[in-house]
Amino acid sequence: MNNILFFFFLVVFLLSPPQIQSQTIPSNISIFILAGQSNMAGRGGVYNDTATNTTVWDGVIPPECRSNPSILRLTAKLEWEVAKEPLHVDIDVNKTNGVGPGMSFANRVVNRFGQVGLVPCSIGGTKLSQWQKGKFLYGEMIRRAKAAAVASGGGSYRAVLWYQGESDTVDMVDASVYKKRLVKLFNDLRSDLHQPNLPIIQVALATGAGPYLDAVRKAQLKTELENVHCVDAMGLSLEPDRLHLTTSSQVRLGQMMADAFIAIPNSAQPLLYCFSVLVLFPLFFL
Ligand SMILES: *[C@@H]1O[C@H](CO)[C@@H](O)[C@H](O)[C@H]1NC(C)=O
Ligand SMILES: *[C@@H]1O[C@H](CO)[C@@H](O)[C@H](O)[C@H]1NC(C)=O
Ligand SMILES: *[C@@H]1O[C@H](CO)[C@@H](O)[C@H](O)[C@H]1NC(C)=O
Ligand SMILES: *[C@@H]1O[C@H](CO)[C@@H](O)[C@H](O)[C@H]1NC(C)=O
Repeated sequence: MNNILFFFFLVVFLLSPPQIQSQTIPSNISIFILAGQSNMAGRGGVYNDTATNTTVWDGVIPPECRSNPSILRLTAKLEWEVAKEPLHVDIDVNKTNGVGPGMSFANRVVNRFGQVGLVPCSIGGTKLSQWQKGKFLYGEMIRRAKAAAVASGGGSYRAVLWYQGESDTVDMVDASVYKKRLVKLFNDLRSDLHQPNLPIIQVALATGAGPYLDAVRKAQLKTELENVHCVDAMGLSLEPDRLHLTTSSQVRLGQMMADAFIAIPNSAQPLLYCFSVLVLFPLFFL
């Protein structure tokens, strides 16, 4: 008899569907939007494999970037799953993704929140002009950010992490209007998410693809917008391509961004996140 029961349970166990991560439905999640270009998407540990002549990720995940059941990411299909490196694997799909600053950031702030929800939106090689309101990348970022709030029953937006500009160092005009475009982007983003004082943690470039690095950095270091905080990546170690931060640099950068965020007064206080539910639910179901 016991054998039959055992066999029965064994069959039930074997036939039961595997745990589907996307069924994770968070509540009261603290949402962070990750946007920018390749160094935000993460290229730490990405190298040229001479045997196959392709770029591959070495798969090395430092302890600071390990997964944690309280840190989720919004997939390209707008579902939550436990976050793991590379965070942008299904977002920056035409590139080989590696380690970025997102996981080390999240691991440093997670103990202040019940759950952290990362919303990766970065695409390698993009210019700031492509992120202006009305353009595809901007629309995708807003769409994903709003879906994140809806998918969590109205989670609260906590901050935007922004690291972009390498592609704007090539052309003099792009560099000279960088500040104007950045201010417009941040204002539009806050306005469209109904968070006029949403903290923005941005990175001053460590590298550029062209000669106008200083002009872009100057704009980044001095946006003169309230609650926009800048951490400087200059001096962090680089991959052999001299353009991308190494894995250990990304760990450090994520921690610098976390420290800048934590330093904002009341950054972990409960927000009036019912607002996003009230605003977004009708939009979604109309
Ligand atoms: C490797 O790939 C690059 C383009 O990705 C190409 O230009 C180059 O010729 C290739 N090298 C070899 C040895 O196949
Ligand atoms: C990837 O490449 C395809 C084909 O060139 C393009 O249509 C698509 O927009 C690209 N996607 C991203 C995220 O860069
Ligand atoms: C939501 O999370 C915040 C921390 O981010 C916590 O202070 C607050 O008590 C939580 N609210 C509920 C209803 O769980
Ligand atoms: C890989 O090789 C290409 C040229 O073949 C180069 O442009 C790129 O920077 C290299 N990438 C890395 C990560 O070294």
